[in-house]
Amino acid sequence: MSMVIRQIHPVFVGEVSGVDLTKPLSREEVAALEAGMDRYAVLVYHDQAITDEQQMAFSVSFGPLEDARGGNIIKPEDRRLQVGMNDVSNLGKDGRPMERDSRQRAFNLGNMLWHSDSSFRPIPAKYSILSARLVNPVGGDTEYADMRAAYDALDSATKAEIEDLVCEHSLMCSRGSLGMLDYSDEQRTMFKPVRQRLVRTHPVTGRPSLYLSSHAGAILGMPMAEARILLRDLTEHATQPAFVYAHRWRLGDIVMWDNRQVMHRVRRYDDTQPRDMRRTTVAGDRPTVAQA
Ligand SMILES: [Fe+2]
Repeated sequence: MSMVIRQIHPVFVGEVSGVDLTKPLSREEVAALEAGMDRYAVLVYHDQAITDEQQMAFSVSFGPLEDARGGNIIKPEDRRLQVGMNDVSNLGKDGRPMERDSRQRAFNLGNMLWHSDSSFRPIPAKYSILSARLVNPVGGDTEYADMRAAYDALDSATKAEIEDLVCEHSLMCSRGSLGMLDYSDEQRTMFKPVRQRLVRTHPVTGRPSLYLSSHAGAILGMPMAEARILLRDLTEHATQPAFVYAHRWRLGDIVMWDNRQVMHRVRRYDDTQPRDMRRTTVAGDRPTVAQA
């Protein structure tokens, strides 16, 4: 059976059938998926009983994996998964849901804010690839917002106003908005704000998109309050239902998205029950703007 991509949302998202991601892909299949990503920005696969090794092998078809260091407060010795795998479960090293008052859990709850993965890095991520190994019975949908469609729908005055704006992104901003304000000096250095363009252009298609994320907390040359109102306003615009796809997870699903073209967030779920989701991240290849 040959691979087919069917669009499942009015503006983006393709559902892929006829491909087994646990096996090595041909060059033609990789090229077709990459072209599908350029067009749909999010690709959904079902019934993929994939291992960590297979997921990493699939991911590197699209470029080197991102170095995950500096993206979390977890200590290396507390990690549940091997290097190369991002643990976005609610599980501790012992395989059980984390305690309600755990700082790690609080930090991970930040994934419920709209964001683009690694926008807090000078070279932000290309793709994220998320596989459902254990699905929580209640809630936990992942929502995606098409930032190209959101950009296209802006009025021309707003487009002109934001064209050359540069934001500062930091994990301390997204987590700060959840009341997490205490960081060690080491963490403050690790989470130092980076610069990102507010409007970015896709390197292949040339399509412009809004580059928003809850990590963004300031705009260069603009008073803080004014910047945050603008960012909030643009985020509200970009996440209106017409631009959003909600993925209801089934066991064995894999969703792959282009962080350069979409934002995403996780919805609330029953945190007393396990949810095992494992992400691989394909590194980006260029900054959106020069750093300070
Ligand atoms: Fe994420």
